[in-house]
Amino acid sequence: MCGIVGCILKEKKDVAPILFECIKNLEYRGYDSIGLATYDNAIHVKKGKGDIRKVDREQNFSNMKGFYGIAHTRWASTGKPTHENAHPHLDDSNTVAVVHNGTLENYLEIREDLIEEGHEFISTTDTEVIPHLIKKFMDEGLDLEGAVRKCTKKLEGSYAIVAMSKDEPNKLVATRKDSPLIVAFGKDGYFVASDTPAVLDYAREVIRPKEGEIAILTKDGIEIHDKNGKKVRKTPQHIDWSPEMAKKEGFDHFMIKEITEQSLAVKHTLGQKANIKRIIKEIGDVKRICFVACGTSYHASITGKYLIESLAGIACDVVIASESKYTARTWDEDTLVIFISQSGETFDSLMALKEANKTSNTLAIVNVAGSAMTEEAKYFIQTQAGPEIGVAATKTYIAQLTAIYLFAGLMAGNDKIIEELSRVPKYIDEVMKEKDKIKEISKRYDFAENAFYLGRGFSYPIALEGALKLKEITYIHAEGYAAGELKHGPLALIDEKVPVIVIIPPGDDYKKTMVNLEEVKARGAIILTVCAKGDKKAADNSIDVIEINSEVTDIIAPLVYAVPLQLISYYVTCDKGYDPDKPRNLAKVITV
Ligand code: AGP
Repeated sequence: MCGIVGCILKEKKDVAPILFECIKNLEYRGYDSIGLATYDNAIHVKKGKGDIRKVDREQNFSNMKGFYGIAHTRWASTGKPTHENAHPHLDDSNTVAVVHNGTLENYLEIREDLIEEGHEFISTTDTEVIPHLIKKFMDEGLDLEGAVRKCTKKLEGSYAIVAMSKDEPNKLVATRKDSPLIVAFGKDGYFVASDTPAVLDYAREVIRPKEGEIAILTKDGIEIHDKNGKKVRKTPQHIDWSPEMAKKEGFDHFMIKEITEQSLAVKHTLGQKANIKRIIKEIGDVKRICFVACGTSYHASITGKYLIESLAGIACDVVIASESKYTARTWDEDTLVIFISQSGETFDSLMALKEANKTSNTLAIVNVAGSAMTEEAKYFIQTQAGPEIGVAATKTYIAQLTAIYLFAGLMAGNDKIIEELSRVPKYIDEVMKEKDKIKEISKRYDFAENAFYLGRGFSYPIALEGALKLKEITYIHAEGYAAGELKHGPLALIDEKVPVIVIIPPGDDYKKTMVNLEEVKARGAIILTVCAKGDKKAADNSIDVIEINSEVTDIIAPLVYAVPLQLISYYVTCDKGYDPDKPRNLAKVITV
């Protein structure tokens, strides 16, 4: 996903090395090209396709002069990943430079009109219309701020934009709609970025401009103006994530570091208990709940549905955000719509949240404070996982589950579940002690072309999440199935070349899942079972076994049984020589 950064220093030192460091911190969002623009009597642009360091070797960004500038990592959406399509983009007189995150729906019409007026375009991006429009409006007499404001009135779609102009030097102007953007106050200068980790090394006092507001950065500070150009007063929020928290701390990859941090993520999120209690009280009576999310967050939501229905007896739906438009028609004032998201910026979830706000009470369970969903939702719970850099969600998933269990347990007044939750960090640590054994087991699975994950009841979403983790980082085709669905189709695919991972904790569904395990065994499948310590029957019927503390009941299982599945995916990925932190074609934050 695109990442943008802008910086203006208080003193006249070259800004390019700082921009380069900041943009490197956004690598985790996924990108295909990068570029920088600085101002020193003229606007200078350097950019290229490929890895940040490779493009730097070719372009030598540190040679760029000027004490302010903008930078960008691009994740292609409109126009292929090429040198020409990399940002920053300029108008055809090199007067205005722009970086943009988002997608413009009406750029083709704007582009045609501009071409008729004599403008020439170099790229096939939607973004390039923006510097052309800004230049046109400045030529009509507007200042940079006015031209940016007028330009955004023409744009349909989503955008976070930072613009600079040689006709109005020493200034950066930024604005946003449906795409993330923060401004930050540092010791040596002022910053604008699509995400806080970009600037953590330099600035910690952060403001998130609202949609339609314009941020103006000069060497003397940052002003935020509302849509009428009136100055708005805002208090910056202090971000206490240390830069080290966003680095690997000696682990080979962010993913394994983040898996290791999971027991802490649970502990920290349990600290939200009082806050969640207050929110439940404020929300009051709820007749129906609907979860909305994407990907891993959707899997956490299925667990939420099962919990709320079984513990609180409240009717509960769960819907994928991009498929929520029909369900949205049934939301009313008695519905609580809960949005689960690591980033708080996922476009489809954010759009559904805006829709839900029209009819219903909304609650966002999000990991990133100050993100769009935290501002949109009527209520907000922050999961306490800290920054997650690996594209595959791990500790944020476990933290989401913790918040959901707290919410459901407190809503139902179920003290037993809350008490069980407090033991989860210990159970996770026990799994982590077995990681060398799990690594050995993983070596026997890297040959696979297809794999199945089976689970019933609370173990069904674990199966879905296990399969997603395997496919997204190892590129092995994997399917998660409700074990009871096996004979309705997938059983036809099982043979002696197919690994089947069976999640079978003790509890109500144990016997039925055992029948399914025997069914796949009869077809010769290579069975890896995740079961309770001492479960001889499961062990006898499997090739490989990963044992979990037998105190872990089926209800609490998602918080613990998911961990060995993450480890298996991680180790298989390493065995295959892939980078688990940056799977191909995927991005950490999906803002389009
Ligand atoms: C899974 O590992 C992915 N990172 C992905 O499925 C993710 O959960 C999804 O894109 C939703 O993101 P969100 O939680 O930030 O909304």
